[in-house]
Amino acid sequence: MTTPTKFLLQESQMPKYWYNIAADLPKAPPPVLHPGTLQPVGPDDLAPLFPMELILQEVSTEREIEIPEPVREIYRLWRPSPLFRAHRLEKALGTPAKIFYKYEGVSPAGSHKPNTAVPQAFYNAQAGTKRLTTETGAGQWGTSLSFAGQLFGLEVLVFQVRVSYDQKPYRRAVMETYGARCLPSPSTETEYGRRVLAQRPDHPGSLGIAISEAVELAAQREDTKYALGSVLNHVLLHQTVIGLEAMEQLQMADAWPDVIVGATGGGSNFAGIAFPFIGHALRGGARPRVVAVEPAACPSLTRGKYAYDFGDTAHLTPLTKMHTLGSTFTPPPFHAGGLRYHGMAPLVSHLKELGLIEAVAYTQTQCFEAGVLFARCEGIVPAPEANHAVKGAIEEALRCKREGRSETILFNLCGHGHFDMAAYQKYFAGELKDETYDERELAMALAGLPSVPEPV
Ligand SMILES: Cc1ncc(COP(=O)(O)O)c(C=O)c1O
Repeated sequence: MTTPTKFLLQESQMPKYWYNIAADLPKAPPPVLHPGTLQPVGPDDLAPLFPMELILQEVSTEREIEIPEPVREIYRLWRPSPLFRAHRLEKALGTPAKIFYKYEGVSPAGSHKPNTAVPQAFYNAQAGTKRLTTETGAGQWGTSLSFAGQLFGLEVLVFQVRVSYDQKPYRRAVMETYGARCLPSPSTETEYGRRVLAQRPDHPGSLGIAISEAVELAAQREDTKYALGSVLNHVLLHQTVIGLEAMEQLQMADAWPDVIVGATGGGSNFAGIAFPFIGHALRGGARPRVVAVEPAACPSLTRGKYAYDFGDTAHLTPLTKMHTLGSTFTPPPFHAGGLRYHGMAPLVSHLKELGLIEAVAYTQTQCFEAGVLFARCEGIVPAPEANHAVKGAIEEALRCKREGRSETILFNLCGHGHFDMAAYQKYFAGELKDETYDERELAMALAGLPSVPEPV
């Protein structure tokens, strides 16, 4: 009998609840602080930006939160997503390890991002929001919110980081197809964007700047709210459908992961695949190693400081304790735009501090090399962000080969790279450089972190 390649769930087996890791943590994460008072923020502080239902999810400690039926109905357009056994990659590597990957590129936007765009649009529409503003780095999140906004009758305005806007013109066309408006950030549409452009007219942009622009506009109008594609607790919560499905699928394969690998930008797809397994371990189940893979050019988990910082560059957001490179740090313009963020999700950062996860960083050429091998074995061309997870999984498989261990490796293939072919072309032409950040700029950004006294 041949070993199956795909593990598929029926629509009726799709999770009915998201998993909230806050219920199982051995220690609560540090509170989110108001930057003026340095006191913990309350729901009312966040109300100008988010609908109350999402704010309540942000602070919830309930283990399971029901996925509303209208959201499940839309999820059914692409969920449950497939779990694959990477037989050909295993063979090419000559590893005794079993490699499984969950493929989120089957969504309409081509990545995991609609898993949270749809519920965010749903709760906003329910609360009477008419317009959403947001940032996008890779274009994947902007596409996802444009799609979700259209389904719920919301106007969507996307600030796309300049470098990504220039690298991927067809992402903007997809957003416009879904009825959204997409501007390059920094833009002349906001006061903050104009300020940044006045200082540096050719600024490549960053997620921190694009977030500031989107927040600035949302705070100005009653009918407008802001939607974030990563980092926040409720975003990570929505992504747990990935790991919950993977648990069922691995059981079908009679397997359980020894190692879980995910790419980390703000931490949402990583949390999506890993948190349900970490929660299972915290409740007494088997404990896998969990590896976050980040870009060497923007290494918040491996080089950042665990400190209170702003989520955006203009300092319009509350302060969260996270691994950060400093909110004024501009990462060099490498091709995994979704990973060019100065901070890391507070929950992911907290797990790192608790020793429940590990982190490694790789350069972009290392990741593209891994992605090309993967494409040639498995057929799917990964997004540059997803190449980080592929690289991490391959490194684990090669370690298994050296050690003669047949471990089970699970990774999240968070998106396809069909809009990223210019980056692949550069890689094949030998023009892709390993961008490095400016150590002086990093030191300055870290020196400028807000001073927040440690609680006694
Ligand atoms: C395909 C893909 N993977 C990963 C990321 C990084 O975000 P996160 O760490 O929240 O999953 C992005 C962000 O835009 C993305 O587009």
